[in-house]
Amino acid sequence: MTQFSDKVAVITGAGRGIGRDTALLLASEGAKIVVNDLGGGPQGGGSDSSFAQQVVDEIVAAGGTAVAETSSVASMAGGKAVVECAMDHYGRLDFLINNAGIIRPRRITEMSEEDFDTVLAVNLKGYFATIRAGAEYLKRQGGAIINLSSPSGFGHWGMANYSAAKEGVVGMTRSVARELGEFGVRCNAVRPVSQATTMAIPEVYETITYQHQTLGIPHLSNQWLLPHGEEAPPHSVAAVLAWLCSPLSENINGREVYIFGAQVALVQEPELIRNQFKAGGWTWDGICDPAVTGALTYDIRNRYKGLKPV
Ligand SMILES: NC(=O)c1ccc[n+]([C@@H]2O[C@H](COP(=O)([O-])OP(=O)(O)OC[C@H]3O[C@@H](n4cnc5c(N)ncnc54)[C@H](O)[C@@H]3O)[C@@H](O)[C@H]2O)c1
Repeated sequence: MTQFSDKVAVITGAGRGIGRDTALLLASEGAKIVVNDLGGGPQGGGSDSSFAQQVVDEIVAAGGTAVAETSSVASMAGGKAVVECAMDHYGRLDFLINNAGIIRPRRITEMSEEDFDTVLAVNLKGYFATIRAGAEYLKRQGGAIINLSSPSGFGHWGMANYSAAKEGVVGMTRSVARELGEFGVRCNAVRPVSQATTMAIPEVYETITYQHQTLGIPHLSNQWLLPHGEEAPPHSVAAVLAWLCSPLSENINGREVYIFGAQVALVQEPELIRNQFKAGGWTWDGICDPAVTGALTYDIRNRYKGLKPV
């Protein structure tokens, strides 16, 4: 008996990278898979149905069950088509893994409206589109939604569009978790740092190098990203995603899981780090009084966000 016998999983962007390895793993554990992938370029644009089909062929050759689906998740119609593919072929939906993603690194001063909209359409709206289409099906017997976020959401030079989308994913995850938890549907976000995939275009490394080496801001603004060694191979991220589908993680809902190399970690939600109170509320004079609010401005962590040295 395998872990996911009789379960049905929809995985978006499963033609390559993390999604592909997740499809192969869940299928090897008995799940029937909808392998969605548009097959476009890493910055959006183009399409190639062969990526989804190749993964399906691999699954079937290994004795598993899968179907290819090549819609773009960037529209409500696309998200619905992906989910309905699961219902048409297998009659149920247990796991929805929103993994499709594109990247378009640009300085904020050079980022066009299209650069912003295109990245949000795939990485944020595309996740809403499938959840909106699949939630009622998931509620029937319970299940799991996993949304691929990114450490870039913590702040990443040259990635305002991607950061906005991936941090939006975390907020949406927390809300959906609260709405669907009572029906036995868990919803969690994963922030991976994975070895080279299609997305690892040279421009991404240029943003990291500039932020880290020129500005002296730690990679992705988080010191705790630094000391843990190698990036995780996609199959390592896939293992964590599969675990989040399984009953072994049944107490985890509305949370973020971070994976980097050999480390997997639960991420703390944002916390207040310093408070100041003023009886009667804040006035202009009050907020300008360094004796009262000065403590808010002096924090070593501010230095890691690119402040010009004084
Ligand atoms: N690789 C990393 O280090 C890393 C880090 C942080 C977050 N992530 C996130 O993990 C997810 C997977 O990343 P990956 O590195 O495996 O990327 P990848 O580029 O290897 O795979 C993403 C897949 O999504 C597909 N896709 C793109 N737009 C689509 C659309 N509109 N509809 C359907 N499919 C579409 C692509 O064709 C591609 O096959 C992404 O959401 C990414 O943002 C990855």
